[in-house]
Amino acid sequence: MDIFSGKRIVLGVTGSIAAYKSAALASLLAKSGAQVDTILTEAASKLISPMTFSSVTGRKAYLDEDLWKQDDHVLHIHLGENNQAFLIAPASANTIAKLAQGLADNLLTLTALASRTQIAIAPAMDGGMYSHPAIQANLALLRERGVHIWGPAAGHLASGLSGKGRMLEPELLAGHLRQLLGREGMLKGKKVVVTAGGTQEPIDPVRVISNRSSGKQGYAIAQAALDAGADVVLISGPVSLLSPVGANIVQVTTAAEMADAVLAETEAADLLIMAAAVADYRPLQPADQKIKKDREGLQTLKLERTEDILLHVAARKEESGVGPAFVVGFAAETENLLENARAKLEKKGLDLIAANDVSGQDTGIGADLNQVLLIWRDGQTKDLGSLPKFEIARALIKEAASLFT
Ligand code: CTP
Repeated sequence: MDIFSGKRIVLGVTGSIAAYKSAALASLLAKSGAQVDTILTEAASKLISPMTFSSVTGRKAYLDEDLWKQDDHVLHIHLGENNQAFLIAPASANTIAKLAQGLADNLLTLTALASRTQIAIAPAMDGGMYSHPAIQANLALLRERGVHIWGPAAGHLASGLSGKGRMLEPELLAGHLRQLLGREGMLKGKKVVVTAGGTQEPIDPVRVISNRSSGKQGYAIAQAALDAGADVVLISGPVSLLSPVGANIVQVTTAAEMADAVLAETEAADLLIMAAAVADYRPLQPADQKIKKDREGLQTLKLERTEDILLHVAARKEESGVGPAFVVGFAAETENLLENARAKLEKKGLDLIAANDVSGQDTGIGADLNQVLLIWRDGQTKDLGSLPKFEIARALIKEAASLFT
């Protein structure tokens, strides 16, 4: 189940042109299983219709006039009490000022005062307005009161100018909401280090040895750990994926850089999940200049072994006690899955190993699905079957979290 599943979210929409992007946000949240109650201010309703929101959420989108209807005479109280998150996106300069002053002259600001959950706002306005001392003072006051302020971002603005004032994109706002909803989760207060993607080992300045890893599984694990409330460090090889909101990203290229990053980040970590496809060999002597094709005959490339990062982590823990409390590894196998994975778990001192069969076309490296068998140190196993990588990540994080209990 997604973290948004069954969660009630109040989405306030105010009079900034970014209001049209809020419909995409409402749609994204609804598709993830959230019950989204939208409240539009009068200015917002001039920019976008309530019907757009009710169409994508399948729920009513409220206007000020609903406050004066007889069927729910305390609508603002009901909306304010029954939600797990309250986000105003976009939050205009005017609404920010009203929130700072505690004004309650429309359904949205009334509901904000009645809300039992902390409010989050995504400011959106022209850059010159955003930097105005009055706005900055209002934002400082709201921040002091515990309001979450997400964005704005810098970039092109509706005025045609560039500057800081753009509402964060819907995917980023959804990422912030995930983090907010997950903060009391099973891994609250735990530092979780996740590695993802493949490494690249240089042959010359333009060529590398790499593998087909897309990073999807590792990124999904980082997101699932964030959803469970963990402090996440994501050590990533070169991949083209959006970083999960809230993760501290460490970008690396080679196996040696990944080893340095893992050793540094796991000194005081609670859990390491090594999902990266680390190169086992690298060119012995990468050429300083681009290798030309004027050489005749067969060419050979001499390779040397890279360091096994998990073995190093285990050895350091054995010698000095420094290292993560628990370690989860992966085993990418094309044959003898159970036997090979058990041997890796033993050799690398793991608590849990996710064995995946990478021989199929539709699962494993680069694919959207993964086929995973979990194996514990005591010999216990659990077959997760073939699932989307995010489902695998959620199941893995659930099992990893129960290592702590
Ligand atoms: N791993 C590592 N350091 C390496 C290579 C792999 O820490 N230099 C980690 C991987 O991230 C994974 C686990 O070890 O969690 C197993 O990786 P895998 O590629 O399945 O096996 P290898 O140990 O590389 O052995 P082989 O390639 O012979 O199967």
